[in-house]
Amino acid sequence: MTSGIERYGHGGDLVTAAELFGRAPQEMVDFSANINPLGPPPRLLETLQTALTEIVHYPDPGHRVFRKSLAEKLNVEADWLLPGNGAAECMALAILALQPKKVGVVYPCFSEYAKLASQFGAKVIAIYGKEESGYQPEMEQLHRLFVEADMIFVGSPNNPTGMLYEREQWLQMAAWTNETGTVLVADEAFLDFVPEEKQFSLLAELQRFPQVILIRSLTKMFAIPGLRLGYSIAHPAMVERMKNKQVTWSVNQLALLAGEVCLQEAEFAGNTRQWIAVERVWLQDQIRSKLEWQVWDGEANFLLVRSPANLPAVELQQLLGKKGILIRDCSQYPGLTEHHFRIAVRTREQNQRLVAELCEIARVKRAL
Ligand SMILES: Cc1ncc(COP(=O)(O)O)c(C=O)c1O
Repeated sequence: MTSGIERYGHGGDLVTAAELFGRAPQEMVDFSANINPLGPPPRLLETLQTALTEIVHYPDPGHRVFRKSLAEKLNVEADWLLPGNGAAECMALAILALQPKKVGVVYPCFSEYAKLASQFGAKVIAIYGKEESGYQPEMEQLHRLFVEADMIFVGSPNNPTGMLYEREQWLQMAAWTNETGTVLVADEAFLDFVPEEKQFSLLAELQRFPQVILIRSLTKMFAIPGLRLGYSIAHPAMVERMKNKQVTWSVNQLALLAGEVCLQEAEFAGNTRQWIAVERVWLQDQIRSKLEWQVWDGEANFLLVRSPANLPAVELQQLLGKKGILIRDCSQYPGLTEHHFRIAVRTREQNQRLVAELCEIARVKRAL
């Protein structure tokens, strides 16, 4: 554990930020966690408020009502689905169920892939995407990883780069699972922010790939990271093995109810997708034109940025933190440098405030 803001390895740690910057957690504008600032949908909050009394009952350990609604929504059989306490639990269950000896990751990526693998006794083997190609690995590198590892975690869109794999690449990886027997844990947690999400998902092809586990999250789009809800989609035999490792009642009743409401919020999700596409480009353009800092072309609701030579990301984080703005220092991500940081796309007003503060910090730095 480090002493910095990311002492638990993640963004969104408002308790630590509040401690370090001497402000109440709710006063911070949080660009460090990639949560939809338009959410949660109002109907979700209303449902949760009226459902509070249900906490006197145990949640359904079979998650039946939510699973049935999800099955209808995704057009799959219910036995292909396993809800989890966030996508993070789904990842843990994949490892617990299959007990891989070697887990492959593609750096830079979400830190939990390697952390969970190590926690549960697997050796982590890594390949690195190259900066010139937006941190996307070569397909030959990926293929070698499939040959070597028993299980591979790949995010699309990937965190923290926002990079999305092309449909052919995603399908190629799925095909390699049949060739090598390696399990692909395909993390589509941020895919619902992508306008043509169906085109970039493995979902429609999953029948052909019994060694692929698709993982999705509801915490980002619907702004419920504190409530926790995600799910896995996989062959029923795989789902059964994962379910056998799941702690009974790990998904609480309010989360299951929230899930049902979220499934009906197609309009909210569609509006968010449209809005994010516009706002992300605006923020990217501002950083490029006003600051001339490098920003990668992310496809999700966050952007990876590089600060200039005289301003390490950790210093920038401190300076912004004192102004009540939280960003994600990405220097801990293997494959990135001490100048990389990540920002979530937030409301126009908040984005404007971030850009103004960045410009002010850059001006002072230039003058030094
Ligand atoms: C790529 C990726 N997948 C999954 C998760 C975890 O999602 P959840 O909140 O559903 O556990 C995160 C959280 O930041 C993430 O960045």
